[in-house]
Amino acid sequence: MTILGIETSCDETALALIETKGSIESGDLECRIIDSLINSQAELHSAYGGVYPSLAKREHGKNLIPLLEKILGALPASKKEAILDFSFADTLDTFRADVGSQNKELFECMEHAEFLKNIPAIDRIAVTEGPGLEPALWVGINFAKILGTLWNIPVIPINHMEGHIIGSLLESDAPKGKWQKLKGLPLPALALLISGGHTELVKIDGIGNYTILGQTKDDAVGEAFDKTARLLGLPYPGGPQVSKLATEARDSNIQLHVKLPRPMMNSGDVDFSFSGLKTAVLYAVRDLEKTGGLNELAKKGICREFEESVADVLDSKLRKAMDSIQARSIIIGGGVSANVFLRQRFETTTKEYGIPLFMPSRHISGDNALMIALAGMFHDDVVTKPLKAQGTKRL
Ligand code: KG4
Ligand code: ZN
Repeated sequence: MTILGIETSCDETALALIETKGSIESGDLECRIIDSLINSQAELHSAYGGVYPSLAKREHGKNLIPLLEKILGALPASKKEAILDFSFADTLDTFRADVGSQNKELFECMEHAEFLKNIPAIDRIAVTEGPGLEPALWVGINFAKILGTLWNIPVIPINHMEGHIIGSLLESDAPKGKWQKLKGLPLPALALLISGGHTELVKIDGIGNYTILGQTKDDAVGEAFDKTARLLGLPYPGGPQVSKLATEARDSNIQLHVKLPRPMMNSGDVDFSFSGLKTAVLYAVRDLEKTGGLNELAKKGICREFEESVADVLDSKLRKAMDSIQARSIIIGGGVSANVFLRQRFETTTKEYGIPLFMPSRHISGDNALMIALAGMFHDDVVTKPLKAQGTKRL
């Protein structure tokens, strides 16, 4: 089976093609990556200090068709098939009447995309339905629906957070074209999902069988990284910037003179709160500004202390949740899982517990469509209880 994955939940327009063989029932399900493309809009949003939803929507509308043309070029010749036997223009018109006014850019591109008249040998489209920025999500969903109608193939809605879970099970750095089984996950597993919009601990009793054990009551951890960066005058997305300065601080032994809080670390549950941490950074910045001390060294010190606070909180909640469900394996997913300091901390903890840790390779830790296509493999056979969408907030 060949699956096209589509991801437009935030500021990455992404498409992926995978091929699968075998089945879940017979235990021999394997997949291989045909291609995975990501067009990041981060630079465009940087001017706004965060993701600007209507800009994201417009950019997705412009990006999807060129990306699709490119990725279809990666399909083997045997996978390029018939020509549409009905009017392409009429089908587009039907959709235009319905959703065209909200997706102007997408329709403008689609009208001229002659290549859409060649039906590719794709068996299924998997598209992110949420959670994410609603206007951005709709572009991908409408795109998927139109392709599904044109090419007469089913469209499967995928939960973005489930995508982050399943993406962690891919063999790290498996080259394109190599058949692989997803890594076996001893159950119950515990996933810590840390992204720009979410921070949650999820018990996994099987693919599609999830229970949220705890989550943030306010800001997500990635959001706290991004806001801290903004307070320090660092560009969006702030996570990698804060992490870079924190590493430099540790390497040069630079330490902030004040200690930042570890919010809710001893709250007794596995919920999180990061907005107080961001406010503490704000106060530290203000105090330093008053005395003229907000120099590069001080900024590095803040980043280090901030990152260590986040690590302490995440690690302590992870341990608590591991104990409470007797977890037999751990998954870390979401954009913040690219953070090297946090990765090391999670490695130490899981080693101590003697259980396997699954993290996405760093290049697919951020939003991508590969994880969405992979999740699409499971959705005939599994009754899915989708992870609950936790709103659409992202900066
Ligand atoms: O999963 P993701 O790509 O998008 C959402 O689903 O939200 O996560 C994006 C978040 C951003 O907040 C970004 O600053 C953060 O991941 N991030 C990092 C790092 N790389 C990306 N945070 C900390 N350290 C990093 N190295
Ligand atoms: Zn994400």
